[in-house]
Amino acid sequence: AEKVIFDTDPGQDDAVAILTALASPDEIDILGIVTIAGNIPIHHTTRNALRLLELTDRTDVPVHAGCARPLLRNLVTAEHVHGPTGLDGPDLPEPTLTARDAHGVDFLIETIRAHPSGTIRLLALGPLTNVGLAMTKAPDIAARLKDIVLMGGGCFEAGNITPAAEFNIFVDPEAAAIVFASGAAITVLPLDVTHQMRSTRSRIAAFGDLGNRSGAAVAAMLGFSERFDVEKYGWEGAPLHDPCVTAFVLQPDIFTGRSVNVAIETASPLTRGMTVCDYWGVTDRPKNAVWVRSGDSEAYFSLLTERIARLP
Ligand code: BDR
Ligand code: CA
Repeated sequence: AEKVIFDTDPGQDDAVAILTALASPDEIDILGIVTIAGNIPIHHTTRNALRLLELTDRTDVPVHAGCARPLLRNLVTAEHVHGPTGLDGPDLPEPTLTARDAHGVDFLIETIRAHPSGTIRLLALGPLTNVGLAMTKAPDIAARLKDIVLMGGGCFEAGNITPAAEFNIFVDPEAAAIVFASGAAITVLPLDVTHQMRSTRSRIAAFGDLGNRSGAAVAAMLGFSERFDVEKYGWEGAPLHDPCVTAFVLQPDIFTGRSVNVAIETASPLTRGMTVCDYWGVTDRPKNAVWVRSGDSEAYFSLLTERIARLP
């Protein structure tokens, strides 16, 4: 199984990404979950990660709380999408499990250093503050990672929190700039592909029809988070972003993309957090990421549904 660490701000779509990995122990060994402030403040993202582990009887997975705010900026949250708890929709109980003592950034550094080089995949589903700070404190970890697979950015689909920027990159553009300049192997699942992965009524109902409590929770989460995006985009079904990262690990042939240079805008107020992706190779800037542009949404939702079915 691939050894992974999640860095995440759950968030309904983060939750589905984590649940899909928890359901796939043959392929994915979760070494830990590090939380980050993003969709909601850190107290809520940590609490939500713990609730997911209790939902699935996986209290063996350690949770470490990371940074409470971006490197330089004030925190921007998205309660308007995710609800005041960040995981509105299902009625999940207050967790009894607690986060471990070590700070999430230190957990990242120590875990990456403790394993053989080239074996850990970092799955980043939120603002990149923890990852950027860990790379600043311990630059050696970038080359030790097998790769980073992250949800963030947009090129052809532009932005979702501003006309130019996707939420995760917008919240902490300086951290994102550090990560993209780190030399780590990076695969990006941007809006260009996540906007193709729409949680329609029938796809949501399929989770609810599985008959297990995790499927019911997923249906309730997606039923909640989709209401805002459906109104915003006018599409049948809202984009289901973060599970693209887990799906990419499980079944990369669902997706297509190419190697590109990605640079992050940090100076302009108008385009803060824009992922400037040289998709057509019009500069000689070195390639630093694989940019995923499209994916098979039927295969994606089949995979997610089939995996969630395996959970309690
Ligand atoms: C990203 O922002 C968050 O709201 C989602 O969890 C996802 O990671 C989409 O732009
Ligand atoms: Ca997220």
